[in-house]
Amino acid sequence: MGEDKFILSLDEGTTSARAIVFDRESNVRGIGQYEFPQHYPRPGWVEHRPDEIWEAQMRAIRTALERAGIGPEQIAAIGITNQRETTIVWDRETGRPVYNAIVWQCRRTAEMVEEIKREYGDVIKEKTGLVPDAYFSASKLKWLLDNVPGLREKAERGEVLFGTVDTFLIYRLTGEHVTDYSNASRTMLFNIKRLDWDDELLEIFEIPEGILPEVRESSEVYGYTKRELLGSEIPVSGDAGDQQAALFGQAAFEAGMVKATYGTGNFILANTGKTVRYSDNLLTTIAWGLNGKVTYALEGSVFITGAAVQWLRDGIRIIKSAGETEELARKLESNEGVYFVPAFVGLGAPYWDQFARGLIIGITRGTGREHLARATLEAIAYLTRDVIEEMERLVGVKELRVDGGATANDFLMEFQANILGKPVIRPVVKETTALGAAYLAGLAVDYWGGMEEIRDLWKAERIFEPKMDAETRERLYRGWREAVKRALGWAKV
Ligand code: G3P
Repeated sequence: MGEDKFILSLDEGTTSARAIVFDRESNVRGIGQYEFPQHYPRPGWVEHRPDEIWEAQMRAIRTALERAGIGPEQIAAIGITNQRETTIVWDRETGRPVYNAIVWQCRRTAEMVEEIKREYGDVIKEKTGLVPDAYFSASKLKWLLDNVPGLREKAERGEVLFGTVDTFLIYRLTGEHVTDYSNASRTMLFNIKRLDWDDELLEIFEIPEGILPEVRESSEVYGYTKRELLGSEIPVSGDAGDQQAALFGQAAFEAGMVKATYGTGNFILANTGKTVRYSDNLLTTIAWGLNGKVTYALEGSVFITGAAVQWLRDGIRIIKSAGETEELARKLESNEGVYFVPAFVGLGAPYWDQFARGLIIGITRGTGREHLARATLEAIAYLTRDVIEEMERLVGVKELRVDGGATANDFLMEFQANILGKPVIRPVVKETTALGAAYLAGLAVDYWGGMEEIRDLWKAERIFEPKMDAETRERLYRGWREAVKRALGWAKV
C-alpha cells in the first residue's frame, strides 16, 4: 500500500459525532466533530434521533477529509467506535428508524429491570457479566417491542432490525447487519462465554432472534461503503465500543493493564486476558475479538466526574472554564478537610447505590471556591481509586494509562498518582478512543503489520510518579470513604 493512504476513524459519542483521519505513525491528520441534539421527552428519559446522529457523522467525515486535505480514495479502511448500549430499531428495507434511539443513560426501564433482576439476577450476571440495570440494551429493546404499535409483529416477520449505534452506522454505510463482540457484550443478551446470543436471555426479555445482528470480530472487513455515500467503496473493518476501543488505543494488550478515560464520567477498564473474571461490584465485559481470540475486561463505570466540573461552571458558576480548577486547587496546600461526593445520579461502580446524592462536607468559615475546586478534582481521583481498589484484588494493577479531556489537568494527574500510589501515564496521542478503532480497522487490511507494531507506536507523553507518603495518602482516602458513607442512601432518608 502506498504512503498516501490513511485510516478514517468514526467516534460516535453520546453528545457528538467525530471523524478523525490517522496516518501510519498514528498522527492525527484531520478532525471533524459535530454535536447533535439530546431529547428528554420525560424526566429520566434520554433519546437521540438516529438521523441526527447520521447527519452529524457524515458531516464530520467530510470535514475531517477536508482538513486532512485528502480524498476518499486515500482512505485504506474505516473503523467505528461508539457510545455503547444505546438501542435503535429500523426498517430492513428503507433503513428508517421506527422510533428514536433509547440512550444508555435513559432510566425508563428501571422498574422492568428491578422485576426481572429479582428472579434472574444471578443468571444474567453469570451469562453476561453485567449487573442487571436499565443501562444495558436488553430492556430498552423489550420496551420498544412492547410499546411501538405493531413493532413486535414486524420483528417476528423479520421486517425490522435491532442494533447499537455501531450496527446502525455500519448498516447505513454498507448494508450489512453486524456488530462486534465488545458491543454485543453490552446488550445483556449475549453469552460472553459461549460467544452467542443466549436463548434463555432472549426468552426472558421476549426478543425474537431474527432481529439481532451477526456478531463478528472487532477487526475484520464487514463490508464496503456504498459508492453514493463517499464516492468510493471503502472497507469498514474495525468495530468496538468506545471504552474498549480506548483500551486498545492505549495498547493495553496484556492482562493486568488498566486504562481510565476521563469524560463526563470515568470508565476504567482492566484487561483480564482470556480469563472471565467476576466481581460483585464491577462489570465483566468483552474487550475485543481479534485473530480468533476473545479478550475480556473488568470495567468500573463511574457516572459523574467531569460533569461535576461542569456543575462548578454552569450550575453554581464559581469558575468560568474547566481549566481554572487547576489554578484554584494549587492555591491550597491540602484539601483542608473539605470533600465533595458528586453523587448527582446516585453512585455507580463500586457502590451501585441509586439513592446516593451529592454531598459537600468539612466546610468551615474559611472555605472558599478554591476548596470546592480542589475537592472536585480530588473526588475524580478518589472515585477512580475506588474502582482500582476492586481491580487490584482481582488482577493486580501496576500503573494507570489515562486519556480523555480532564487528563490535560496536571494537578488532577499528579493527585491521581499520589492517591493511587502508582504511576499515571499520559500518552502522546490523546485521541485514544478513535485511535483504538483506527488500529482495529487498519490491522484487518494489513495497514499495520500487527500488535507489535502498534505497541511500538504507543508513546508516553508524561509519567506522573506518586510523591505522597503512604500515611498522608491513606488518611486522605479514609476521609473520602467516610464522606461517601454519609452520601449513601440519602434520597431515601
Ligand atoms: O457506556 C456508555 C459509554 O460508552 C458512553 O461513552 O464517551 O459517549 O460518553 P461516551
